[in-house]
Amino acid sequence: MKVLLIGSGGREHAMAWKAAQSPKLTRLYAAPGNPGMAGLAECVPLRPEDHGAVVGFCREKGIDLVLIGPEAPLAAGLADDLRAAGFRVFGPSKDAAQIEASKVFAKHFMARHGIPTARYAVFQRYAEAARFVEAVDYPFVVKASGLAAGKGVILPVTKEEALAALEAVMVRREFGAAGGEVVIEERLSGPEVSLMAFCDGRRVAPMPPAQDHKRLLDGDQGPNTGGMGAYAPAPMCPPEMVDEIVETVLRPAVSGLRLERRPFVGVLYAGLMLTERGPQVLEFNCRFGDPETQAVLPLLEADLLEVTLACAEGRLDEVEIRWQGGAAVCVVLASAGYPAAPETGRPIRGLEALPEDVLCFHAGTKSVDGQIVTAGGRVLGLAAQAKTLGKAVEKVYQAVERVEFEGRQYRRDIAFSGLVTESRIETDFFSGPGHGIAD
Ligand code: AMP
Ligand code: GLY
Repeated sequence: MKVLLIGSGGREHAMAWKAAQSPKLTRLYAAPGNPGMAGLAECVPLRPEDHGAVVGFCREKGIDLVLIGPEAPLAAGLADDLRAAGFRVFGPSKDAAQIEASKVFAKHFMARHGIPTARYAVFQRYAEAARFVEAVDYPFVVKASGLAAGKGVILPVTKEEALAALEAVMVRREFGAAGGEVVIEERLSGPEVSLMAFCDGRRVAPMPPAQDHKRLLDGDQGPNTGGMGAYAPAPMCPPEMVDEIVETVLRPAVSGLRLERRPFVGVLYAGLMLTERGPQVLEFNCRFGDPETQAVLPLLEADLLEVTLACAEGRLDEVEIRWQGGAAVCVVLASAGYPAAPETGRPIRGLEALPEDVLCFHAGTKSVDGQIVTAGGRVLGLAAQAKTLGKAVEKVYQAVERVEFEGRQYRRDIAFSGLVTESRIETDFFSGPGHGIAD
């Protein structure tokens, strides 16, 4: 199979690493890719926004499958244009991607299909939103509706903060067009879990649940980031709870999207809060999570190309998705100044000295005269897999010490919340076949 992978981050490096293990693969192209992927894929300077150029490239190379990593090209309809030209694509259509690209769509969709989520209201006008905020007597959060690179959620503590947040989003448009509409929703509490599932338009096959660490600093302090590390499986979401979420969230979502004539093909990601009322959806994403993928794909025993091709061809019932026992963890190394204003261009040392059983996924790097330098906020994700989460954590942090660049920031407590309940995963947690569920 000749495969084109769209994207350039740590998630896509992990996808390339896993795809490259497939005996089916004859050629892997990454557009645009990154220096870490260069040994696995031929990096091509295609711009994903130029759909005509991507289609032309697929024709010229005879591409058998296109894997789309990030949300932006999905929301822009790249999958639609590729499918219209006859190519097989792993990634949802523009209409199906609305589940992530429009929080208003997602909330109304969940309401229509009885999917558990926080109570909410939608506003297009500042004055009305402000009046609502003055009136409600429960804690709430404010969300810009459109794609805002993970920054569109504000958790105000006081009414004054809430009004200031609404003004920033709706009047000053600090998140651009994403702030044309806002969702104000009830504030929930509980541990957060990311449950991703392979989908073929009518079936879902859940992956081991993962936990992201969104805040910059240890103990969940500091500003929100794209994600500072992740691990899987998350023991606070044991297999019975995965089954519950499949039944109450993933299955209704996939069948609802199909009923509404926007069948979902790709990875459906449910961001959940495990509340006293049970699991509630905070958000859906229409793609693999970053950095969750860097901790989940190392546990996938099945052939990623076989699984993604089966999704693209609507026959997920024909593949056995096997997962390894044990656990995996990914720790992100970020630049000084991240997330506000990352410093870049710093040489990275120690990459050659990493142990063989530690994975190093590039996210924001660049090769300058043969030297790898930092080129973004999140620079690298180091990942390790082991029989227990404790051993995976030990292994990854030993490796973290070996990689250096000026101003390097990382969290020292990735996966610690999972270690507290380690006993749950020592015992063959979530190993065995993935349960594909036919509708
Ligand atoms: P989202 O992009 O919608 O997942 O929101 C980003 C982060 O904001 C989540 O990971 C949560 O930590 C927090 N968040 C979002 N919605 C809520 C909510 N209804 N209650 C409490 N926290 C929330
Ligand atoms: N890790 C959160 C996300 O991928 O959106």
